[in-house]
Amino acid sequence: MNSLTHQRPASRRRFIRLLGGGMVLAAGGALTGCSTALPAAAVQPWQNADAESDPRRFMLAHALLAPNPHNRQPWIADLTEPGRIHLVCDGTRLLPETDPFGRQILVGCGAFVELAVIAAAQRGLSVSVVSFPRGVPAPNELPKGIRVATLTLGAPGSATADPLFDQIVRRRTNKTAYVNDRPLPIALTAAWADTARAFGLRTGFVAGDTAMAPIRRITRESYEIECLTPRTWLESARLMRIGPDQIAAHRDGISINATMPRLMYAVGMFDPMEVPERGASSLQRVMDRWTPFETGSGYLWLAGEDNARTTQLKAGRAYVRLQLQATAAGVDMHPLSQALQEFPEVRASFEALHRALGVDPASGPVQMMARAGYALAPAGPSPRRDLASMLRA
Ligand SMILES: Cc1cc2nc3c(=O)[nH]c(=O)nc-3n(C[C@H](O)[C@H](O)[C@H](O)COP(=O)(O)O)c2cc1C
Repeated sequence: MNSLTHQRPASRRRFIRLLGGGMVLAAGGALTGCSTALPAAAVQPWQNADAESDPRRFMLAHALLAPNPHNRQPWIADLTEPGRIHLVCDGTRLLPETDPFGRQILVGCGAFVELAVIAAAQRGLSVSVVSFPRGVPAPNELPKGIRVATLTLGAPGSATADPLFDQIVRRRTNKTAYVNDRPLPIALTAAWADTARAFGLRTGFVAGDTAMAPIRRITRESYEIECLTPRTWLESARLMRIGPDQIAAHRDGISINATMPRLMYAVGMFDPMEVPERGASSLQRVMDRWTPFETGSGYLWLAGEDNARTTQLKAGRAYVRLQLQATAAGVDMHPLSQALQEFPEVRASFEALHRALGVDPASGPVQMMARAGYALAPAGPSPRRDLASMLRA
């Protein structure tokens, strides 16, 4: 039974409304009017990326700012060979329940690689990227500690600066409510299509209430399934970092920093390990927090011609470029991945979403889908671990 059920209605109702649930809690501060300013140490990597003088450290200080699922930051950089970076997937930072095949983890690794390449170009260095130099992993299992890519630096002057470089430290995944019905610049959607093509991928943008309605419904349903499935809910619950101390200690996961949930957590009235149940008010209140996630100008999707491991990496490389292009245009983005996940309970949502987007999953499933538009409130940077913690020298 929920530990909150014995509380009295007015304060309890308000408390639960404020609490929301799961990943939605990340937006709690904006919803409650409380400050969501994170501890300075947790966001320091966004401030000092440019301070690195060594080229490989400069690349990595930017790469670690990449978007990645549940902010797991599943990367280790092996610098033992001069002039090279071996990107190793940190096997302790996978998401075995919501991402059982490690697909989303690889998308995040792809984004890491792309930011490293953009940062190298800023220093005039080209990069040759070899994916899975020690062999491509099986489609349904990501071995712990796999070498995801080797980046080899070119000679000084071998690259020119990438105009997207300046956007790396400005990029945010904004999880607050967006304006509805405001079209995006045509130049941006055209640039997105060009970027996807450059990686051999396809992209589309779904706008307008009629086309967005089924996507809103499917994303909501799939989130509900994720919340009701104890092992997937608990995977997220274990990654909740509640209050400045936990956020500063972990610098990853799902940050919850609004005053009310922190207070209630401190007095034992908020237990993230409590799984929502169908028919119970706990589920309704969690789902109420989903509403802002149905706002926006439309849904951007990105798919390949297949679901190969190399395609998943390329999707991450392309996705972060799409988001940097959006950032440059003043447009916000927020991935919604529940219906793209591979655990069996969301299979029907997976099929329904692909039908709604007009993508045949047999010829390349959607790798990323994000709502896009103009957020009503700006988002701050999300926590990052220090570069030193991910280096193997
Ligand atoms: C593969 C992938 C899947 C993601 N899926 C979701 C999602 O379903 N819901 C969500 O709120 N954010 C999602 N995100 C965004 C991450 O939560 C976000 O990148 C991370 O918390 C770091 O924040 P930042 O992008 O602002 O640096 C996803 C990101 C990636 C790369």
